[in-house]
Amino acid sequence: MAEMKKILRSLAGEVLETPPIWMMRQAGRYLPEYRATRAEAGDFLSLCYNSDLAAEVTLQPIRRYGFDAAILFSDILLLPQALGADLWFVTGEGPRLSTITRDEEFAILKGVDDIHETLSPIYETVRILARELPEHTTLIGFAGAPWTVATYMIAGRGTPDQGPAHALKGQNRDLFEKLIERLTLSTVEYLAEQIEAGAEVVKLFDSWAGSLKGQDFHDFALEPVRQIIAALKERFPNVPIIAFPREASDNYIGFASATGADCVAVDNSVSPEWVAQNVQTDGCVQGNLKSSHMVSGGLALIDETRRVVDALSEGPHIFNLGHGITPDADPENVQIMVDTVRGA
Ligand code: CP3
Repeated sequence: MAEMKKILRSLAGEVLETPPIWMMRQAGRYLPEYRATRAEAGDFLSLCYNSDLAAEVTLQPIRRYGFDAAILFSDILLLPQALGADLWFVTGEGPRLSTITRDEEFAILKGVDDIHETLSPIYETVRILARELPEHTTLIGFAGAPWTVATYMIAGRGTPDQGPAHALKGQNRDLFEKLIERLTLSTVEYLAEQIEAGAEVVKLFDSWAGSLKGQDFHDFALEPVRQIIAALKERFPNVPIIAFPREASDNYIGFASATGADCVAVDNSVSPEWVAQNVQTDGCVQGNLKSSHMVSGGLALIDETRRVVDALSEGPHIFNLGHGITPDADPENVQIMVDTVRGA
């Protein structure tokens, strides 16, 4: 029998000599080969929906660095598009969507079972990757968590404080909750299809979880993620799930037990030492080198990489950045990080 993949061992709770490593946004604009393939596709969304080219950019950082995991190349905003929202990207600015702030706008969204028509090229990308990845590389599928996706659907764009989503939550609670429910149920079906196509692990990105406080965090960051995980575990008991409630701070404590996640990914609002004491006690953690080191490099990059590895060495750990790598990163610094983690 083939040896079990490193990422899957860490997710099962094993403490490894050197942690497995991958990087959020590892297929991205900091790589010249990504920029070339995106140009060939035309634009970002065309790249997401072109299964052959999306598989190609997913493989690029695997060829270059030999990461232990490949994450499907796609975006969390394709699900709103599959539900009927208009979606486009403004170069240099970010995503734009038609907004959901009134009952009539919610009423024209598609149903949970209608999403697959739009998303079938994504499942095809997963099937290609399942065939083409090296045998020791783990394939990670993903979706946005309902709250984060809802913030984009309500505002029609990224917002610094998620103000429009908080406002709708206060002003039309019924509509807000119906949107969260539609996203929760369709995320289950979306991830189930990715798993059927060959994803071995799935990750839920809740980039804006930190703006939910107190009861709101429980109701809209924890509870929808708990429901998604419960539904997936019923169908796929052996597929590990990573949850990333970014900037959750104290709410990271107990998040894995409360949601059933096999691993909690942590960002840079918490130190690796704090994570070891307060979060890793629950099981596997993923993180959390500051992505700015991929730009600045130097001795600090090596020191901080070692610090993260050492601080989390007593428990199960997957090495990653605290957030995605940025377009201004130096590909050479990524190699230095990988070599440092692997002790080369
Ligand atoms: O991590 C990976 O390499 C897998 C692919 C992936 C992308 N987006 C590709 C992408 C994943 C997992 C995401 C998740 C995502 N998308 C999140 C959650 C994680 C996070 O970063 O907090 C969010 C909030 C989005 C929505 C989104 N997509 C925004 C706000 C933007 C614009 C900002 C930016 O970085 O340009 C995107 C575009 C995007 N998604 C790019 C990539 C590689 C850049 C697009 C390009 O090539 O021009």
